Amino acid sequence: VSSIEVDVSAVQPGMSLTVKWRGKPIFIRNRTPKEVEEAKAVALGDLKDPVARNANLPSDAQATDADRTAAKEKENWLVMVGVCTHLGCIPLGQQGDFGGWFCPCHGSHYDTAGRIRKGPAPENLPIPPLSFISDTVIKIG
Ligand code: FES
Repeated sequence: VSSIEVDVSAVQPGMSLTVKWRGKPIFIRNRTPKEVEEAKAVALGDLKDPVARNANLPSDAQATDADRTAAKEKENWLVMVGVCTHLGCIPLGQQGDFGGWFCPCHGSHYDTAGRIRKGPAPENLPIPPLSFISDTVIKIG
């Protein structure tokens, strides 16, 4: 299994970085406090896909903001496979009705926690296996 290590020390709040892992784009976003707040304010019942889709958690973990973030004490960090769960296009960041990601192929809107909120995509953007190996380095895979 191949893994990569990504230094995120230059990624300030409100900035994103895209890296490749296993041939797929991985979105790494340092979310602003406003983005975190918006994601936390969403009731689970309003989610189209209530499952966290987080490879680091049990498969039935719920899609709370806390269970979507990269680490409990690092709730600003969101790391996701950047492939739309509809038919595989690459969503655009900080666009769409929920201020998260928007897939222009058929109009899927994801929120600031990468959860599908509107459009044909069936699932939240998946969280890959990851861990912080230092304060500023994320290991993916
Ligand atoms: Fe993203 Fe269809 S591939 S909406």
